Amino acid sequence: MLILGVESSCDETGLALYDSEQGLLAHALHSQVAMHAEYGGVVPELASRDHIRRVLPLTERVLLEAGKTLHDIDAIAYTQGPGLSGALLVGTSFAASLAFSLNIPTINVHHLEGHLLAPLLEDNPPTFPFVALLVSGGHSQLMRVDGVGRYQLLGDTLDDAAGEAFDKTAKLLGLGYPGGPALAKLAEQSPCHSPRQAAAQRPFKLPRPLLHSGDLNFSFSGLKTAVLSLVNKHQPLDEATKADVAWEFQEAITEVLTAKCMTALRDTGLDSLVVSGGVGANLKLREKLNAAVKAKHCKVSYPRLEFCTDNGAMIAFAGAMRLQAKSGQPDYGFSVRPRWDLAELQTP
Ligand code: KG4
Ligand code: ZN
Repeated sequence: MLILGVESSCDETGLALYDSEQGLLAHALHSQVAMHAEYGGVVPELASRDHIRRVLPLTERVLLEAGKTLHDIDAIAYTQGPGLSGALLVGTSFAASLAFSLNIPTINVHHLEGHLLAPLLEDNPPTFPFVALLVSGGHSQLMRVDGVGRYQLLGDTLDDAAGEAFDKTAKLLGLGYPGGPALAKLAEQSPCHSPRQAAAQRPFKLPRPLLHSGDLNFSFSGLKTAVLSLVNKHQPLDEATKADVAWEFQEAITEVLTAKCMTALRDTGLDSLVVSGGVGANLKLREKLNAAVKAKHCKVSYPRLEFCTDNGAMIAFAGAMRLQAKSGQPDYGFSVRPRWDLAELQTP
């Protein structure tokens, strides 16, 4: 079965072809980061218009790369949500109309399930069951995963998501959008980054929220507020201070994420951890998790760096898994309006 995957939930247009026998054949991505950068965040209307411009050329590109034609495709998987309505509508309507014209089924994919299953695209993939840490711009969740669609929420964020905390803190430090990679890069400039720097010599100490709460929930908004008061106290911020703050922020957030993952493994009795979502690309987080799981004789799996953030491959793959499990619901209808109360309607 050859599955075309379409991702358009936010600011990346991702297309991919996944073959259930041969694996991933091709994938292509267009990131809108440069276009949104001057606004300091994603402008939904611009995002939608750009998805329209990109979706067909990217489809042609993956077909060419895989040496396939439209008629070789057996099903089309698309991100139905969550995400920006207009952006979702582009990928969804494209998938539905192409599938209708080819007389093949569509598979509606949950964006987070795409992230969650992305590590299974790698060589030596993890096997079910495992604990998953899903850390993206909108989510910070720990889950027990027993199979496709068999997800048990173990812990969630009470306020900001991990990626959101990275982005907001980066903004406070005057860094561009998206903040996570920029902040991680700046942290490397801090002398604290050197293994020779003793912990006692580090200039700042930020809180580790809910580190000892005993449960698996997260809270990151207080961390961002602590950064804000540091920033206010040290005005005007020089580059060295910024780098030290970035380093300590990254240290605090990755320490909490790592500790909660280890607690989740202990509580579930499982020995396999899977990390996914944009923050999963953070190398400090990977360094800490690798050390922690090794100490407990557990294992950890990640998607390759480019599949941590949004992409079409994870959607094609999740679609293929759903099709295999026969739990997909092929249909050509589409809806992306998440909330619409009948009472909102007025007489024409
Ligand atoms: O999964 P993703 O592409 O989009 C959502 O589904 O939300 O994640 C994007 C988030 C952003 O908040 C971005 O700043 C963060 O992932 N991110 C990182 C890194 N790369 C991306 N955060 C920390 N370190 C990184 N290297
Ligand atoms: Zn995402």
